[in-house]
Amino acid sequence: MGIENYQRPIRIHLGAELYQHSVGVAETAATLAARYRGDRHRAYLAGLLHDYGKGYSHIELYRKAEQMGLCLDRVSLEEKGLLHAPVGAALLPVELGVTDSAVIKAVAYHTTGRAQMSLLEKILYLADIIEPGREFDGVEKLREIAHADLERALLAAVEQTIQSVLKKGLLLHPRSVQFRNSLLAGIRANGG
Ligand SMILES: [Fe+2]
Ligand SMILES: [Fe+2]
Repeated sequence: MGIENYQRPIRIHLGAELYQHSVGVAETAATLAARYRGDRHRAYLAGLLHDYGKGYSHIELYRKAEQMGLCLDRVSLEEKGLLHAPVGAALLPVELGVTDSAVIKAVAYHTTGRAQMSLLEKILYLADIIEPGREFDGVEKLREIAHADLERALLAAVEQTIQSVLKKGLLLHPRSVQFRNSLLAGIRANGG
């Protein structure tokens, strides 16, 4: 199914504001894919679909996870900011007929990251943080790094996310720590 088939259902499901964010992520992801020789079409689609789970409340996501028999860890289940990723990903084939497993996986890991992410997963993670609607101290700098060096931009992005999780007193997902360490180890191995 082409991207145009998803635009309307996604806009209705998410509402205007989140839809605008999703389009921003889709466009940013496509630009990053062009820059780093990824699949632009898949990157755009992943961006458009990534927050599908946010169309549901936390309790609805919790129930859907149960109904689908999803085996989720405690941190993902308890943190409001995390659950929409794995449950949204699991709902994509059921509710929207999405069949691209690489896209579904990228959606599933877009909040925590993980070690050994695919290029598409990395692109989506970063695009979510730097899309044009985002405003935070240092976002311009991060956008610059994103264009120059994907791995360094990801490291800066995940470290910022971890810092904000700590500052807010939220549960930190171990996958984010693994993601951060794998990026740093990779950069060091390349002499950085
Ligand atoms: Fe999200
Ligand atoms: Fe998002």
